[in-house]
Amino acid sequence: MRFDIVTLFPEMIQQGASYGVTGKAIEQDIVGLSVWNPRDYTKDKHRTVDDRPYGGGPGMVMKYQPLCDAVNAAKEAEKTPDCKVVFLSPQGRQITQSLLIETSQTSQLILVAGRYEGIDQRFIDKVCDEEWSLGDYVISGGELAALVVIDAVTRLIPGVLGDEESAKQDSFMNGLLNTPHYTRPEQSELGDVPEQLLSGNHKLIDRWRMKQALGRTSLKRPDLLEKKQLSAEQDALLKEFRNEKQESD
Ligand SMILES: C[S@@+](CC[C@H](N)C(=O)[O-])C[C@H]1O[C@@H](n2cnc3c(N)ncnc32)[C@H](O)[C@@H]1O
Repeated sequence: MRFDIVTLFPEMIQQGASYGVTGKAIEQDIVGLSVWNPRDYTKDKHRTVDDRPYGGGPGMVMKYQPLCDAVNAAKEAEKTPDCKVVFLSPQGRQITQSLLIETSQTSQLILVAGRYEGIDQRFIDKVCDEEWSLGDYVISGGELAALVVIDAVTRLIPGVLGDEESAKQDSFMNGLLNTPHYTRPEQSELGDVPEQLLSGNHKLIDRWRMKQALGRTSLKRPDLLEKKQLSAEQDALLKEFRNEKQESD
């Protein structure tokens, strides 16, 4: 999979993606990352990428021509004229795990990071296929959103994580939150590790973990459970979790 990021701050993307899981995936050539700076595609001597908004008002608007040329350069480099172009925008569809899973099965994605008041609407209408948002809040530029997409998609690509099971067990992958985790020491001033995890009985451990995942989801994100069809066994585990909680409260 390769990511092409159109950004006025290419170093921010290169730096941000160079750590941990994404850094390793790039180093091992499992993931390709290229950055395209609209400033390199300007046609005036001041390398102008923005201008005042028509109709007046605060802030500046990114001009469409350098952005169009940057996107075209990304498409031409890979000979992929039909590659999906996504504008990162607070007005877009909210990014979810299922959108990222779908994306991880594609071969290339062009992400456009806005700055200032935003981008000339004609570019969004004519060049971008979709708009994706981090959530209902506004940040100063699309670079952080691009880094979120790069990171979250990369960890889903086979061969990237040391243990393939790791991503499969993450929160949201099966419509539930992840089970709690513990590590040494077994006993501490903060409490003891649940005995089921120390039993060595994998059936018991799996059953405990599923019960915790169901219970935590019902406490923290009941909306997720409403969307999920539980098996009879999961239903029984959730009841057990709720009874135990009631007794301990
Ligand atoms: C200061 S924001 C512009 C916000 C714009 N005036 C609006 O209210 O819709 C500059 C850029 O940051 C990025 N951005 C801001 N919030 C975002 C979010 N929630 N998700 C994704 N990108 C975002 C977009 O690329 C946007 O063009």
